[in-house]
Amino acid sequence: MKERIGFIGLGTMGLPMAERLWKAGYDLVLYNRTPQKVESMMRRGALRVHSPREAAEASAITITMVSDDQALTDIVIGQNGLYMGLGREKIHIDMSTISPKLARKLERLYHNKEASFLHAPVLGSKPQATEGTLLIFVGGDRAAFERCRPLFDVLGERIWYFSDVTQATHLKLTCNQFIASMMTALAQGLVFAQKAGLSAETIIDVLGASALNAPMYRSKTRKILERSFSEANFFVTHMLKDLDLMLEAGRQLHAPLPGVAAIRELFVAAQAQGYDREDYSAVIKVLEHLAGTQVRREQPAS
Ligand SMILES: NC(=O)c1ccc[n+]([C@@H]2O[C@H](COP(=O)([O-])OP(=O)(O)OC[C@H]3O[C@@H](n4cnc5c(N)ncnc54)[C@H](OP(=O)(O)O)[C@@H]3O)[C@@H](O)[C@H]2O)c1
Repeated sequence: MKERIGFIGLGTMGLPMAERLWKAGYDLVLYNRTPQKVESMMRRGALRVHSPREAAEASAITITMVSDDQALTDIVIGQNGLYMGLGREKIHIDMSTISPKLARKLERLYHNKEASFLHAPVLGSKPQATEGTLLIFVGGDRAAFERCRPLFDVLGERIWYFSDVTQATHLKLTCNQFIASMMTALAQGLVFAQKAGLSAETIIDVLGASALNAPMYRSKTRKILERSFSEANFFVTHMLKDLDLMLEAGRQLHAPLPGVAAIRELFVAAQAQGYDREDYSAVIKVLEHLAGTQVRREQPAS
């Protein structure tokens, strides 16, 4: 059995990531706000604790994979928080998408305890988390990174390291700018084409044969045609959170993001329509509503 790892946040991403570590032979100490989500792993022998503090006390390295800045703040400095369980040479790796500001704040805070904070956000979704093929951006102390490298190798297929903790955070936000923009471009394109009598299948066929080819265009078009938005890998609400993080970081860096500002409004509308816990491709429903149409499968010629 390898060393004991604390894992906090067994949601869409956290559960398959914890399962990979378990299969790789790590002894896991688990905490999730909603305890039921830990049960499947407890049946396999993992240990459940009742607070983030206990998870950090019981392990040398604790990983968090939670929704947003508020969730991570609650976990670290809330009642019986992870910070209370930290000590000399302990490491906290946060793999959520959070603000550069919070990443910097935690790195500084942990100096008080001679502990280390690594921010290690990921690119990829539930399938990549399950297969261990995430792309991982790690920022923070190099010695802490080297100690944690075997864990990253279990979770991801490529790792980029930065000594400045916020560079990993900014890289993740840069990537999510592409995800949000590409999703919106696809949704607009499919709705426009539908109004012109062109099928989604034709659009995807042409994109796939061109320099615009990207696997997400095909996978998200399939989801749109199946109308399977409730089978979500990445929620509308998390995309909206990331758009807000980008705009805030853009303000700090004096980097205007006019496209992100416009896309954000579409995601606000998607949330207002009640699609928060649907896949982020559900943003197309906002555009369909505005255009008075719905993107459908091509009907076979009779
Ligand atoms: N899904 C993806 O494709 C994907 C890809 C890359 C990065 N990310 C990022 O990874 C992070 C996790 O995403 P996810 O899709 O796994 O989210 P999720 O399914 O919504 O899971 C969120 C987790 O955070 C916990 N949580 C939320 N608020 C909390 C609070 N105040 N206190 C304690 N725990 C709290 C939840 O606990 P409960 O179970 O009690 O609600 C749950 O374990 C997010 O930052 C997201 O942006 C997601």
